[in-house]
Amino acid sequence: MKFFIDTANLAHIKEANDLGILDGVTTNPSLMAKEGIKGQENILKHYADICALVEGDVSAEVLSTDFNGMVEEGKKLAAIHKNIVVKVPMIKDGIKAIKWFTDNGIRTNCTLVFSAGQAILAAKAGATYVSPFIGRVDDSNWDGIVLIEQLSHIYSVQGFDTQILAASIRNALHIVRSAEAGAHVCTCPLDSILGLLKHPLTDIGLAKFLEDAKKM
Ligand code: G3P
Repeated sequence: MKFFIDTANLAHIKEANDLGILDGVTTNPSLMAKEGIKGQENILKHYADICALVEGDVSAEVLSTDFNGMVEEGKKLAAIHKNIVVKVPMIKDGIKAIKWFTDNGIRTNCTLVFSAGQAILAAKAGATYVSPFIGRVDDSNWDGIVLIEQLSHIYSVQGFDTQILAASIRNALHIVRSAEAGAHVCTCPLDSILGLLKHPLTDIGLAKFLEDAKKM
């Protein structure tokens, strides 16, 4: 499973990248706004800065909701760097745009996916990645991991190439369970990635080893 970091924060991206396990970055308009990135020029520059930091796919989201607008925006985003993946919302024009990008050699990430039906449409349109938001599925009183299991089964049975990118990760357990359920990629905030390191018995064991090492 590939590890992406889900942030537009350059310090967080650098910290995760320095671990040596980072395969890419996903962003969205909320995450860009959180970093105070405003205006088309600054937005494009910020994506270029992220691409310069990480050797891997970087999802950059279109803001238009009509086909022509998405295509025009997507072309500009894809021109920033070879690693840019155009992130497109799961709406009717979004599916049309994903098909256009697929036919024109531009890779896509279909975002805001909450059901197997939506994921089938994204795969049919040729999306490179599909992003089920598992934390938000949990918030709505269903089970995000069950959705990943369902997509994993359907894509495998049907031979779809689209990669399942588990998104809206809220904790380390989401990462472990996404891996178990067959996600190809997990995109996570830095805290959730670092959360994987933690186990109290590791801390207790290391303290004991260091204590005993003084007697060596
Ligand atoms: O990748 C999508 C993600 O950023 C959404 O996460 O926590 O806002 O549901 P969240």
